[in-house]
Amino acid sequence: MNSVSDLTASKRHFREARLGAFIHWGLYANPGGVWEGTSVPYLAEWLQSARRIPNAEYSRLAEQFNPQGFDADAIVKAFSDAGMRYIVFTAKHHEGFAMWRSHVSPFNSYDATPAHRDFVDEWSHACQKHGVKLGLYYSHCLDWHEPDGGDPRPCADNFGMSWGNDWDFPDQQSKNFDRYFEGKVLPQLTELLSNYGEVAVLWLDCPMTVITPHHARRILELVHTLQPNCLVNSRLCMLETLGDYGSLGDNQLPAGTTADDFPREAIITLNDSWGYKSTDHNWKSPAQVRKITLDALQSGANLLVNFGPDGEGRLTPESWAVLHDLAKWQAAVGEALHSGGQSPFPQDLGWANAVAAGQKLWIFPHAETPQSATLAGVSGELQNACGGEVQRLSDDTWQLAGLERLAKTQTPLRMEFSAPPHYDTCPRIQNGRMSLLPAQARLVHGKANASTALADAPLGAAGEKLIGNGHSVLADNGALCDWQNPAERCVWHLRLESGRYRLRLVTRNGAHSQPWHGDRTVEVTIGDRQLTANLVATEELDDSHYYRAAITDLGEISIVHGGELDLTIRTIHIASPDAATMQLERLELQRS
Ligand code: GLC
Repeated sequence: MNSVSDLTASKRHFREARLGAFIHWGLYANPGGVWEGTSVPYLAEWLQSARRIPNAEYSRLAEQFNPQGFDADAIVKAFSDAGMRYIVFTAKHHEGFAMWRSHVSPFNSYDATPAHRDFVDEWSHACQKHGVKLGLYYSHCLDWHEPDGGDPRPCADNFGMSWGNDWDFPDQQSKNFDRYFEGKVLPQLTELLSNYGEVAVLWLDCPMTVITPHHARRILELVHTLQPNCLVNSRLCMLETLGDYGSLGDNQLPAGTTADDFPREAIITLNDSWGYKSTDHNWKSPAQVRKITLDALQSGANLLVNFGPDGEGRLTPESWAVLHDLAKWQAAVGEALHSGGQSPFPQDLGWANAVAAGQKLWIFPHAETPQSATLAGVSGELQNACGGEVQRLSDDTWQLAGLERLAKTQTPLRMEFSAPPHYDTCPRIQNGRMSLLPAQARLVHGKANASTALADAPLGAAGEKLIGNGHSVLADNGALCDWQNPAERCVWHLRLESGRYRLRLVTRNGAHSQPWHGDRTVEVTIGDRQLTANLVATEELDDSHYYRAAITDLGEISIVHGGELDLTIRTIHIASPDAATMQLERLELQRS
C-alpha cells in the first residue's frame, strides 16, 4: 500500500498539471460513427451497441485498422505546447479491444491488426520525451467482446442502447462477471501498470452497479502496489465513493471549489462525441475552450479536453485549431494555469474569473466587461500589477482599468502583493453585482443541518441518508442537485447595503440531453424581505451541449436595513411529482 504522503504529492502535481488531453481512440475510429451508410445517434464509440453489431462482424474492423497517419510524438508535442501536462488514453473502451500488445487477449492492436503496433507504448514514449504524464482509461465493467462482460439489466435508460452485450450473449443468467474480472480486467491492468513506465492516472468508467466495493478495492490494491503514485478517478465504483479524485459528469461545467485532498476533473468533448464522428460538426470554438479552461481554473478543477483521432490516427482540423490557439495563449496564462490555485473569493465575481496562489492574484475579465471595474474584499500591500492598471480605493477595494483588451484576449491582470493578501470571507456586491454559488452556501436539510463540506456526503449530520432520498445534494460540479425538497434551504450569509436589487437564478436540467423545465415555485428571503416566483425561463443558456440551463428573472427586492444578512432560497411548490430534477447553479443580485 502507498503511504499517505505519496498520494499527497501526486494530488498536488495533478492539481498543478490542471490541463490534460483525453484521447478516445479504438476500432470505432474507422467507421467514425457511420454504419451501413447511416450515422449513429449520439456517441461514435458506442457504435457496436447502438447497431447491435455481432462480435464476429465487429472484429473485422480490426483487420482494417492500420492507422498510417498516427504520430504520437507530433500529437503529444502539440499537447505539451498547448499547456497540457497529462494525457488519458483509452487503452480499452467498452468494445473490449486492447490498444496495446496484450498477452491476456488476442483482441488487441498488435495481434489482431495489420498494423502490429502497440499504441500504449507509442503514447508512453512520446509522453516521456515531451515531459507529459501518461494516464490510461480502462473500461473495467463493460466489455462487449466478452461473454462475461458487465451487463447491468435492468438499468437506467441509455438512449435506447444496451449497456452490456445482450445481442451476442443474451442469456444474462449464464454470465459470470467475476470470471471476466479475474480473467481479463486484473491481468490486463497488471500489464498496463507494469510495462509502460510511470502511469499517473488510471481512469475507470461506467462501473454501474456491477462493480462492487470489493471489486473496486481489488483494483485499488493492484494500482497502489504496482504504481504507488498513480491516482484513480471516482468512476471506479458507483456504490461507494472510492478513488483518489472526483470525475465530473460528461461535459458537466466546472464551478464551485475544490478540496486539497480530493481534486476534481472536468471532461469536455470538442464536438458532441468522444470517439471520432465524421458527421458531427458541432465544434466548440477555441474561445469557448479557453473560457471553460478559465472556469475550471477558478474552481480548482482540472480540465481534460477530448480528442478523437480518426481511423488513420489523425486529429481533425478543428482539434488542431484548438491546440494551436491554446499554445499561443500559454505565454499569458501558463503561470496562473499551473499555479495549483483557485478563486479566493467566497462568491463568483460575476464579471471575471479569478485565481490566487500565494502572493499572486490573477483576474481574467469576461468578454462583456467594460473598461474598468471594482474589486472588493482583498487587502494587502500591492507590490506590482501587470496587464492592466490598479488603483486602491479603500483598504480592501480596488479600481481595475484597461480591462477591455484583457477581455478580448482572455488574458489576466496580475496583482502581486508583498505577502499573501487577506480575502474577506463574506460575499458582497462586486462591481454592482453579487453572484452566489451553492458550493459556498450552507445547506439546511429537513432533519440534518449539513455544512457544504457534508453536503455531498451520502449521509447528513443527523445520520439520515441524503442521496436518493428526496434530498438536495451538492454535485461534483458545485451545483445543488435534485433541488426540489421544500424542507431544504440554501443559505448564504452576506453583506448588503440598503437599496433595490434584481434577482436572477440560473438552473440546469441534471438529466443528459433533456430540455429545461422550471415546474416549480421558489421563495427567496433576505433579512426580513421575501419574494416568491415561478421558475420560468427568461433566457435559455447555450453553454453546454449536454445539460440545458436557463436564467429566471425572479423580480426585485428592497433592502431597507443593510448590513450582514442571511439570504435563503428554497422550493415551495413542485408542479408535479415528475418535475424535472433541476440543479440550482447560481443566484445573482444586481443593484437596480
Ligand atoms: C461515457 C461514455 C463513454 C465515454 C465517457 C467519457 O461514460 O459511455 O463512451 O468514454 O462517457 O467520460
